[in-house]
Amino acid sequence: MSSHGEPIPMKSSRSGPLRGTAEVPGDKSISHRALILGALAVGETTITGLLEGQDVLDTAAAMRAFGAEVEKRGETWHVHGVGVGGFAEPDRVIDCGNSGTGVRLIMGAMATTPIAATFTGDASLAKRPMARVTDPLALFGARAYGRSGGRLPMTIRGAEAPVPVRYATPVPSAQVKSAVLLAGLGAPGETVVIEREATRDHSERMLAGFGAQVSTEVTDEGRVITLVGQPELRPQSLAVPRDPSSAAFPVCAALITEGSDVLVPNIGLNPTRAGLFETLREMGADLTYENEREEGGEPAADLRARFSPNMRGIEVPAERAASMIDEYPVLSVVAACAEGATHMPGVRELRVKESDRIDAMATGLRACGVSVEEGPDWWTVQGRGPGGVPGGAMVQSHLDHRIAMSFLVLGLAARAPVQVDDGGPIATSFPIFEPLMAGLGAEIVREA
Ligand code: S3P
Repeated sequence: MSSHGEPIPMKSSRSGPLRGTAEVPGDKSISHRALILGALAVGETTITGLLEGQDVLDTAAAMRAFGAEVEKRGETWHVHGVGVGGFAEPDRVIDCGNSGTGVRLIMGAMATTPIAATFTGDASLAKRPMARVTDPLALFGARAYGRSGGRLPMTIRGAEAPVPVRYATPVPSAQVKSAVLLAGLGAPGETVVIEREATRDHSERMLAGFGAQVSTEVTDEGRVITLVGQPELRPQSLAVPRDPSSAAFPVCAALITEGSDVLVPNIGLNPTRAGLFETLREMGADLTYENEREEGGEPAADLRARFSPNMRGIEVPAERAASMIDEYPVLSVVAACAEGATHMPGVRELRVKESDRIDAMATGLRACGVSVEEGPDWWTVQGRGPGGVPGGAMVQSHLDHRIAMSFLVLGLAARAPVQVDDGGPIATSFPIFEPLMAGLGAEIVREA
């Protein structure tokens, strides 16, 4: 990945109709969890459809460092787990690369085992707040020694005699919730996490699948998730569904590129993840769900997206933010190509992702001739209408895959090409982005 290598400048140009089928890779959130829970089960878990992006490969390497056997044979990943409490102390630094999900979930998974581990990451991850995870982990008895402000590199010393925890998450974050639940596996008794707003629930679903006792109750306080600690997790045979957050890029590209008609098959539509598609339909997108079904207990469908010249800006409900938190960058690109203003409130969390995503998108969109207003937890994009974005700028991706892909999507419909200083981070989540988009007819190239 580029944070460990040379930047990869890329350019995207106005393209003819995008057509065909876009087979996007496995879900990143579910892939991390499959490896981590596989490593905590007793015996061999098999995983198909695992995302082989750098973020997930870094988590696979971390699980090996904690003593699990992880290998790919044919198309299947095999994880030989060591059981809850069975992690060995790593003899090297755990490098989580660009991945906030990887580092935060792994910190949780080791925090109630009496071992020490030192974590690091790339320049983007080293800027991101870790206290949101290490504060609740301290309640279990774990200790964290990091840089000022709770930044990586950081050593976690797991609790010698962990106690269960009752914790209300102060920010809407599935990473924080999941870190606490994973730590709760190693503590006796019941660990309880309370979240005011629903965030993605893949950890709860997968923990139950591995045989843990986990229940969710909706109360006036919010969602109260209770986990019984120290279970023996049973190995599973997992098929990872395709990633709705990756599907967002070919879908949005088709909506803004004249004449397009793209099918994106077999996308998970878990309601805690599908907010973007609802928003696009409210904006007037020609986006349909075909062949709706259930896959492994999750709703799924084939998405069909066609060029949509009549999209209008809307106010995106703040309470929908958690279900589309990773999709605001590409939504802002669609908003730039719609008529009228799109107002996006309640999105403070965007400022602490792989980059400050409001700042990164607003700066790049303005350079492309789009007006954007912003506040601490909101932003508003003034649409230029279909085909109305001037483009013609070089924008910075700030080591953020979703910023890079969003601007490359914008270039397909802008009047002049859009250049991105570094497309290398795309490999963290969507390593086949370039051939997939080229197969649809998108003009996205690497620059020498
Ligand atoms: C993720 C949770 C979200 C999301 C990230 C993946 C997860 O982060 O942005 O890409 O897999 O739990 P937060 O929990 O910080 O909102």
